[in-house]
Amino acid sequence: MATVTILPSGKTIEAEVGKTLLETVIAAGEKLKHECDGNSECGSCHLFVQAGRKSVSRIQPIENQKLDTMVGIGSKSRLACQARIIGDEDITIELLGFASGF
Ligand code: FES
Repeated sequence: MATVTILPSGKTIEAEVGKTLLETVIAAGEKLKHECDGNSECGSCHLFVQAGRKSVSRIQPIENQKLDTMVGIGSKSRLACQARIIGDEDITIELLGFASGF
């Protein structure tokens, strides 16, 4: 079974195919802002997928459009509410806290 490791805490949780990274982070007991409740409108759930990108769904236009409006975005950037676990490779994500999204 694949896992999701959440940085900077290092907490690891089982990766459940079909769940979003946002749902996974919350299930792990970590805090991650999600001000628009997962509608790809606020950008507050921005994180970096540091490893295991093949196990995460591809960026769709609605997510891309939001990322385009944000600062501090890199090639590993995802909106946790839009990125879904689809594979069985271990995933490492990095939460950005106050520095995220704006
Ligand atoms: S919760 Fe708003 S963009 Fe993800």
